[in-house]
This record gives sequence, structure tokens and C-alpha cells, in this order.
Amino acid sequence: MDKIEIIGGTPLHGEVMISGAKNAALPLIASSILVDGKTRITNVPGLMDIKSICLLLEDMGAGVVRDHTDLIVDGSTLNKIEAPYDLVRKMRASILVLGPLLARFGHARVSMPGGCAIGARPVDMHLKGLEALGADISIEHGYIEAKAPSLKGAEIYFDMPTVTGTENLMMAAVLAKGTTVLRNAAREPEIACLADSLIRMGAKIEGAGTAVMTIEGTDTLVPATIDVIPDRIETGTFMVAAAATGGDVTIQNCIPDHIGGIINKLRATGAQVDCSDKSARVRRTDIIKSVDIKTLPYPGFPTDMQAQFMALMTIADKSSNIHETIFENRFIHANELLRMGADITITSGSHARVNGIESLQGAQVMASDLRASASLVIAGLIAKGSTLISRVYHMDRGYESIETKFSKLGAKIRRIK
Ligand code: EPU
Repeated sequence: MDKIEIIGGTPLHGEVMISGAKNAALPLIASSILVDGKTRITNVPGLMDIKSICLLLEDMGAGVVRDHTDLIVDGSTLNKIEAPYDLVRKMRASILVLGPLLARFGHARVSMPGGCAIGARPVDMHLKGLEALGADISIEHGYIEAKAPSLKGAEIYFDMPTVTGTENLMMAAVLAKGTTVLRNAAREPEIACLADSLIRMGAKIEGAGTAVMTIEGTDTLVPATIDVIPDRIETGTFMVAAAATGGDVTIQNCIPDHIGGIINKLRATGAQVDCSDKSARVRRTDIIKSVDIKTLPYPGFPTDMQAQFMALMTIADKSSNIHETIFENRFIHANELLRMGADITITSGSHARVNGIESLQGAQVMASDLRASASLVIAGLIAKGSTLISRVYHMDRGYESIETKFSKLGAKIRRIK
């Protein structure tokens, strides 16, 4: 298994290009199931999670071809409505095929995604929503069995905003008969990206990116070319790394408008952040000021940036309170940061207190999930000496060429095969 070695202490300088967003690409690829033809998806990042969903679609009979950063998915040959356990267990987001399979074929059989390192992550709201659209759903032998000869539009109220739940319901409702209203829908930029793509395929959707979305069902969708937005979490990760190392980094091909919550907190730490339409420059010359964060659904501070921000707070001037409200077990990285000398107390399952110290020390650490691995990279970049991160396959699920990108910014980082 690959490891990443980092010799810390070098401020990052230069420019970095952001890749397409994993969490936007996954639903876009799933949406190609809805079309009896070829969907071209552009700006698709080269990631393990993308390979996983492509394998799943190929297993279902779809043709999948990679053309540089484009992906062409031929849904016309799709002939299997099952997402098997062995493919779903590798990536929970495989649940995204449930809505489109049901909408196009009237039947879907998808392995129940289990819990994962960061929490239980149930899919009850996906299932309740599909039932409201008229699906008959049962759980049999670890599989979600969903049937609906034809889906009918309905009013659906989510108990809390769910990103993939909203996406699944959108993909089901576009081919349902009549009008669906999704209330308390997730408002993440990835939702608006999916809506734009479905609209290009002929869907009728209003209000995407707000809490209330109205979808008028149509009989069929047509092949289209759809575009993955830049990855806001990769953007935030490089911004935090630039600030943490006391560097000066310009992040290209990003959408600063999508990361207001992160920029706001970074500025509060004393970092200088200058934004234009598609780039952001982050500089820090002064001490890092402690800042409290509370993770919230978009447009709040994203849970997917909590671990990276915690790494930054380990060397801040005072104490910082970190409140995780989205997932119940998302502090596993804290124990690894402790091994690097950080002063962190987990005061409850959802609260951590970080007392800033002068510097971290390099150590051998282990990545437990995707964003935890990014926080360990940031910690390694600021630590004195060498940090060796194992289980970097977590990182490869969601960060494209991360060590190459950091190397170009001057970091002493290498992958050990
Ligand atoms: N929830 C339920 N029932 C449901 C669905 C969700 O109780 O039916 C709860 C979850 O347990 C959680 C909250 O609702 O407490 C929000 O979860 P959500 O459904 O929004 O998460 P998700 O759709 O499974 C996506 C991202 C995650 C990201 C979260 C939150 C994708 C493929 N995944 O997950 O990304 O953390 O939204 O923003 O879009 C990552 O990229 O590292 C990652 C984990």
C-alpha cells in the first residue's frame, strides 16, 4: 500500500490548478443512466471514486470511455438494474444509481451502503422520498429493492438537507409524471451543477441551489454534454495549506463564490485572501489567529473542510472550538494529530477544543478517511521533520495528483510505492 512522506517546514509558493469536483462528477455520471444514448461529461477528475462508479455502470452494461478529462457514458446498452455489494461497499455514493435506475427502468436493486468511518450515514430519506413518488421499496438480504411501473410527482420534505438524497430524488423526479416539489433540499453547488446538467438533457427544474426545488416530469431525456464544476473542497484544502505554511499560493480554476464559508474563516485567522471570478490568492505572513468553526449544510462551513481546518488550528495563537454537526464520528484525524504533538481535546462526539502550539513534529500517522488524509498532509507540511502517512488510498479516492500538485508549490512530498 502506498505511503506519502513529507518533510515539513517549507512555505508553499506558486500556482495550482483545481480539478473537477468529485462530488459533482459522481451524480453527473449517475445521471447518464437516465438517457438512452451517449452523455459526454467534461472536466472529470482522475480519482478512485470515479473509477468505482464507472466500474459500476460498466457492470450494469453501460459503455464507458475516457477521453482525456472527458467521460462518455453510453446508457443505451444498459441492461442490468442491480448495483452489487462488492461495488457499492467500495463507495457509498453508488446509492446515486438508485433514483435514475428506478426512473428509467421502473425497477432497481441496490446493495444497502453500510456505515462508514465518519458515521452511520443512513439512506432513509432517499427511500422515503422515492416512496412518496410511488415506489414500492423493501430491504431484502442487504439489498434495496425498489419498484415503480411509473413514478408520480409529489411534495417531499427532507427532515434535514441531504446532498445525495436530494440528488437521487431529482434524478427520479425528472422522469416522473407531474410535478415534484423538494422542500428543505440541499443547496450545495453540486446540486445546482446536477440541475444544470439535467436541464441540458431536457429536464424542467426550478429553484436548484435553494431550499425549494420544483421539478416538472418529462417523458424522456436526450443525450447532452455536461460539465463538472471545480472542486470546492480541493480548493479549500490548498487555501488552508497555503495559510498553514505561511506561503503565497494562487489557486486557479476555482469558483470562490462556492467557498464563502471557508474564505470568511481563513480571513478571520489573519490570512489574506484575494479573489477574482475563477481564482483566489492566499497569503499569510503573520501569526495564525484562533477561530471557532461549526460545520453546517451549505452555505455554512463544510464538514468536508473540518479536518483540514483543525490541522491549521493546531498552530494558532490561542484555543479554537470545533463543532461538527453533520457527521457523528468525524474527529478520527484528531488522534493522529495528537501523535504529531497537537493539543486537542475531544470534549464530546461533536466538539473538539484545539489549543494552538508553536509547531507540530513529524510522525508516522494513518489516514482514516478522505478528508482526514488531507488534514494529515497539511499537518505534515507544517511539522518539523518527516511525516509518513499510511493508508493514502483514502486520499486517492478524492484528491487528484495531490503530491504532484503540492510538489509544484515547493513542498517536500513524495509517494512511496
Ligand atoms: N442523513 C440521514 N438520512 C439520509 C441521508 C442523510 O440521516 O437518508 C444524514 C447523514 O447521516 C448526515 C446528514 O444527513 O448526518 C447529511 O448527510 P448527506 O446525506 O448530506 O451526506 P451524503 O450525501 O451522504 C455528501 C458528500 C459527502 C459530504 C456530505 C455533507 C457526496 C458523494 N458525498 O454525502 O462527501 O461530507 O454530503 O456535505 O456528495 C467527502 O467527499 O469526503 C464526503 C464525505
